[in-house]
Amino acid sequence: MVKSHNILVLPGDGIGPEVMAEAVKVLETFETSERKFQLRQELIGGCSIDATGKSVTEEVKQAALNSDAVLFAAVGGPKWDNARRGLDGPEGGLLQLRKAMDIYANLRPCSATSPSASIAKEFSPFREKIIDGVDFVVVRENCGGAYFGRKVEDPTYENMGLIDILSAMDEWGYSEEEIKRVARLSAEIALRHDPPWPVISLDKANVLASSRLWRRVVEKTIAEEYPQVKLVHQLADSASLIMATNPRSLNGVILADNTFGDMLSDQAGSIVGTLGVLPSASLNGLPGDKNLKTRPYGLYEPTHGSAPTIAGKNIANPVAMILCVAQMFRYSLDMEREAQQVEDAVRKVLDSGLRTPDLRGKSSTTEVGDAIVAAL
Ligand code: NAI
Ligand code: MG
Repeated sequence: MVKSHNILVLPGDGIGPEVMAEAVKVLETFETSERKFQLRQELIGGCSIDATGKSVTEEVKQAALNSDAVLFAAVGGPKWDNARRGLDGPEGGLLQLRKAMDIYANLRPCSATSPSASIAKEFSPFREKIIDGVDFVVVRENCGGAYFGRKVEDPTYENMGLIDILSAMDEWGYSEEEIKRVARLSAEIALRHDPPWPVISLDKANVLASSRLWRRVVEKTIAEEYPQVKLVHQLADSASLIMATNPRSLNGVILADNTFGDMLSDQAGSIVGTLGVLPSASLNGLPGDKNLKTRPYGLYEPTHGSAPTIAGKNIANPVAMILCVAQMFRYSLDMEREAQQVEDAVRKVLDSGLRTPDLRGKSSTTEVGDAIVAAL
């Protein structure tokens, strides 16, 4: 039987279309007589605003909900910077899509052993003996907490800079269900490793009420449903220190709420030392998750933006976007072996010195993409 995967491809703006073209080339090398990819390409961000007046249309949102996975590159640029804000601006397209898909878990792998090993050695601000063997994934809760809570602020806030704001408040709340689902997903990811990775759950249970609930619910969920997974609670501030002094001791699944996860996942990026090689995945569950009320959704995007100053020059680094294909294979398409093949090919090419200028190389975007395809 032929397996067919529906992939929504959203190149977006700036360098987005250039890096996406290379990722699609890599994806297509995995087509066989038994496996086909049905690619549907659509607009999002600035290019969608220009064409339709909206940062993302209802039709594209629906296409995302009907797909097996979404590949997203980047949106935004100076052309749209001042004209539009919030949900109407280019990045609003991505926010709306994330909301429609309810992709509550954002995963950022950080490894100094797999694809980025030679890059980490050269570009990391950390000494080699600190980062050697680092291998973890940050799972950030991405649909709740302080970023989505009620906001109370002076109504004239819009004129920021001209007035004094006397007080403001952000509600930082979580429900049991919101914590439970991301705890489960973290444990599922831990179980994909043999032996299972530990789950290291971050909070500030010493000062925050929402953190006390977080700790209780994570504890109960993992003890009851995943007794084979080791759980460690770690205060978020000390986790940040440990990530800089002994990151290997955090190897495993680092589970955090929206705010702590935002900070720690950016800090994790500093270990490798460059944006051009870091993929991310956003999920509402994994295939086979019995608690899912919808089909599993996954959106895969590099951690960098649209880099408008280098757009159109064929010098953008396509590696982060290509590693998103590996993440998509791993988490949405049940293709772990193929995910590792992509990562091995990337490592081989980067180790050979074939790199774009951001990695002090001389190769173009298309040359790096072609070399990775050839290595496959
Ligand atoms: P950026 O990630 O686009 O660029 C930061 C720096 O890294 C720049 O020097 C850029 O040239 C370089 N860079 C980024 N990706 C690269 C790649 N693949 N290869 C080589 N060099 C690369 O972030 P910045 O400059 O803050 O934002 C630029 C635009 O991108 C803005 O309009 C911003 O709103 C948007 N943006 C979009 C995001 C998204 O679509 N998720 C995320 C971050 C920014
Ligand atoms: Mg951030």
